[in-house]
Amino acid sequence: MNRAQWNQLADTFETEVCDIAREETRDQLSRFVRAVDLSPKNSVLVDLGCGIGSFIRKFHYRFRDVTAVEFAPRIIARAKKNCADVPQVRWLAMDIPNAAAAIGAVAYLTVCMNVITSPSRARRHAIWTTIAKVTKPKCHALIVVPSLESERMVRRVGRGTDASLPEGLVQRDDAVQKHFERNELMSTLARAGFVPVRISRIYYPWSKEGMRKPRSGGGKGPWDWVCLAQRRAGGRARKP
Ligand SMILES: C[S@@+](CC[C@H](N)C(=O)[O-])C[C@H]1O[C@@H](n2cnc3c(N)ncnc32)[C@H](O)[C@@H]1O
Repeated sequence: MNRAQWNQLADTFETEVCDIAREETRDQLSRFVRAVDLSPKNSVLVDLGCGIGSFIRKFHYRFRDVTAVEFAPRIIARAKKNCADVPQVRWLAMDIPNAAAAIGAVAYLTVCMNVITSPSRARRHAIWTTIAKVTKPKCHALIVVPSLESERMVRRVGRGTDASLPEGLVQRDDAVQKHFERNELMSTLARAGFVPVRISRIYYPWSKEGMRKPRSGGGKGPWDWVCLAQRRAGGRARKP
């Protein structure tokens, strides 16, 4: 989806978009954030594709400074409103691939949740590269991506229709979204200059799939992959 398409979702963000920091059902993000050694005296958070600011609202108190990047003007306006009482947030209304030059390698934690979904490999590569560039060496990135395994499960237990295309691309309403298998996420992170340290499913409600909980076979529900990864100390990122 491009900037204009995202912008159109600003008013209906909560119903139309999976805002994982608000909607996850098992409090996984708190566990992942707690696994990072952070100090409110000096730690910096960079949230790439911050949406309406839900992660910042929830976890800002763990950081000294926050930089939020979001290219849809009406969405970032909502994030600013939601986080009006959060001190020390720098809001950057720009495309993520342009953000590294403005931010530098400052992040103790870089968050990028459900943003690396473009069907274009080049667009995704530009975002992985930015994540690496803004994260301080030896510090961490927290990545959430749509799961291809979950998509297959949802199709099997309910939706029925096969909307998948090659290379993990899935037709969602009128947009095509990249989905990742677990191993693909791990290897992509490695090529981007990160060592994955913790990976898990992060569950969200069935309603986000336009479904009720199925009688059987749905496990704990549909999920995204959440991964905490450490930026390697040196070396250049390879093409993910
Ligand atoms: C699915 S939402 C996720 C929002 C938030 N990270 C969350 O988990 O709730 C994706 C967000 O990323 C923004 N976005 C997507 N591509 C972007 C890009 N290239 N540069 C900046 N923002 C982007 C969209 O406008 C949207 O607000």
